[in-house]
Amino acid sequence: MTVQETETKVLISHPKDASTQVTVLKYGATVISYKTKGIENLFLSEAAKLDGSKPVRGGIPLVFPVFGKETNPEDPLSKLPQHGLARNSHWEFLGESSPKEKDGVAVQFGLYPDIANQELTKLWDYDFTLILTLELTETSLRTNIEVTNPLNSKRDLKFHWLFHSYFKIDDIEDTFVTNLTGAKVYDQLLQENYVERLPVLQFQEEFDKIYSNVSPNILVQIVDRGEVLHTLKRTNLPDLVVWNPWVEKSKGMADFEPKTGFKHMVCAEAGHVKSYLVLKPGEKWVGEQTLCEEKLTYQAI
Ligand code: BG6
Repeated sequence: MTVQETETKVLISHPKDASTQVTVLKYGATVISYKTKGIENLFLSEAAKLDGSKPVRGGIPLVFPVFGKETNPEDPLSKLPQHGLARNSHWEFLGESSPKEKDGVAVQFGLYPDIANQELTKLWDYDFTLILTLELTETSLRTNIEVTNPLNSKRDLKFHWLFHSYFKIDDIEDTFVTNLTGAKVYDQLLQENYVERLPVLQFQEEFDKIYSNVSPNILVQIVDRGEVLHTLKRTNLPDLVVWNPWVEKSKGMADFEPKTGFKHMVCAEAGHVKSYLVLKPGEKWVGEQTLCEEKLTYQAI
């Protein structure tokens, strides 16, 4: 069996090598584990709640329809909690779908207001259809999101999208995030805009920055002493949030364990978050990220 469904999870194993596998929690359609040849790619906090009581701390939570908090009180999105409602909703497992790659196994999940978290849809009463496709190959994981504003909806749908990937790394102080030189950046901690001049991003303290308008040709890589651990390819996801909570912020997160876990994770989050997307009734938007294996590549923007 390459796809196994339980009450709370879906496990996808690669038919040629069962040690290459993805585990998806139906709550949030959150990928909580992605292993290639038995090696885990994603960080998952030991205290992450997997029972639907709060969004998962680790893996790949999905952010929709708002990234962070909307601060304009006039905007209906401001009623939603940080990072929206997709990561706090039980998604429907739609079963297998046709893979794009010859050796791929693909599955789909759906979310609509009828099944989304009712506490939150009460606060933000908009119509939407989300279809998430996950495709596993021997060397990659493709995550594709299709957002539709249904034809019979009465209003425009305004939203952000983000794949909030927590990557597992050996040691944050040996880790670089590359290929963002020249990109516009907003430092969420200093609340300042500037252009990234550093040849690579390094981490020695809390880090929370939004790189915007990064060309789809740019491969973002997570590199440990010259070895590429992770490569991110993006389509229609121009923004990249890079985050590490470091010591103090980790202490403040009850579901972040062990407290030294920040040394073994970095978030590189591909999305569309610097500006909102707007769909008229009947319109659709698609965004995609692929985590894959690539040689060390040096690119500047
Ligand atoms: C990142 C944000 O995407 O998510 C950070 O840039 C935030 O500001 C982090 O702290 C975690 O958010 P949350 O809601 O999962 O604690």
